[in-house]
Amino acid sequence: MTNAAKLDALIAREQDRFLKLHPRSAKAWAEGRQHFLYGGPSHWMRRWAGGFPVYVEDAGGAHIRDIDGHDYVDFCLGDTGAMCGHAPEAVTQAALRQLKRGATTMLPTEDSLWVGAELSRRFGPRYWTLTTSATDANRGAIRIARMITGRPKVLVFSGCYHGGIEEAHIEIRDGRVGMRNSIHPNAVDHAAVSRIVEFNDVGGLEAALSHGDVACVLAEPLMTNFGMIPVAPGFHEALRDITRRTGTVLIIDETHTLSSGPGGYTQLYGLDPDILVAGKAIAGGIPAGLFGLSAEMAERMWKLVPFANPRQRQSAHLGIGGTLAGNALTVATMRAVLESVLTAENYEHMIANATRLAGQVRVLIANQRLPWHVTQIGARAEIMFMPEPPRNGADVIAQRNGDLEMLLHAFYMNEGILVTPFHTMLLMCPATTPGDVDRHTSVFERFIALLREAGLP
Ligand SMILES: Cc1ncc(COP(=O)(O)O)c(C=O)c1O
Repeated sequence: MTNAAKLDALIAREQDRFLKLHPRSAKAWAEGRQHFLYGGPSHWMRRWAGGFPVYVEDAGGAHIRDIDGHDYVDFCLGDTGAMCGHAPEAVTQAALRQLKRGATTMLPTEDSLWVGAELSRRFGPRYWTLTTSATDANRGAIRIARMITGRPKVLVFSGCYHGGIEEAHIEIRDGRVGMRNSIHPNAVDHAAVSRIVEFNDVGGLEAALSHGDVACVLAEPLMTNFGMIPVAPGFHEALRDITRRTGTVLIIDETHTLSSGPGGYTQLYGLDPDILVAGKAIAGGIPAGLFGLSAEMAERMWKLVPFANPRQRQSAHLGIGGTLAGNALTVATMRAVLESVLTAENYEHMIANATRLAGQVRVLIANQRLPWHVTQIGARAEIMFMPEPPRNGADVIAQRNGDLEMLLHAFYMNEGILVTPFHTMLLMCPATTPGDVDRHTSVFERFIALLREAGLP
């Protein structure tokens, strides 16, 4: 039997076990398919490796219980949306208090004053706008970059993900630029709105920005959505230097790298973006995103759109944001997160657990001489089935073993571990315990034994 056939057989076995273990979820999924376009309320929910998602009965701290009665240690944490843990007390109380006083009014609350000041203290940028998601924050940031520069294009790095951002739905595959693997073309002419280069490619970046048609570079500090691609020494300095020289706005998307520490990767490593974006966990699971502008960007913006123009009664919008953005509920929960949940002390605890997990997995990998590695950024660890950390998207495309990931993820679910379905990212929340980490390690050890028994890899 070939290795591929052995893997197929193991995946089929795990999916069969999954089906037997989850009869109620299987039934619910069949019912959900009657009314949702892709089976669940969001199309993302169809991607779980067991073949269908488990339906959640209850989520608290770092654990989820499904409707079949199984308990999971949750390292997916809503793909970062629940990095605060599930139902954190401070957020729950703040939400309840605010819900009783009105969720949304199109007027500010006093909580917003504290939140604005705290965001600047943590992340650096001076002027903030709240949105309903990180996607929306990226869209707003891009619009501002285009307004300020008068240029049409957005430069992204191959393998990136920044939410539903049309300009970023491309990749470099076999040296050619095309639509992202799983994204169907939609008649948008990406050549007119996007440029793309490989991550860590200073020469490619310099060449792409030399045309003078790029409004902004949209980048994560290091890439977290194609497995984890670490940043090469000197790349951030080059990125900042080239964007400045070419008059290109630098947008740093901290939505995932918020796991680095209280001020994200930006504060930890002294980055200096023109616009900083974040979202997901920032309001403890209540939909929210935000972008912050440097004082210089804000001055340029106010020249185009003056701060106060009360005579403009019609169409007074900026083409940015949504009705529910920055509402009282979001702001109250964001305050609770910043004040009581994503604190320096809790980050210390989360990072210690991620370090424990990464260390234990590295020992297992080394003992078994497996060609795999683990990368960690603060509270987030990523297991990748390739010997060295990738330098860019091309390395990931060339080396990624999707079937092995699929098998691991299906095995994880059968053994009570949840990870993000799209890659093996394990995230800690304040409620994650060393015992939770050790439970993962023992499952991972059994996974290696399963492969060995089958004569893999
Ligand atoms: C780096 C990054 N930015 C933005 C987003 C979009 O977040 P949302 O789907 O919450 O809008 C994501 C989602 O995974 C992300 O990973």
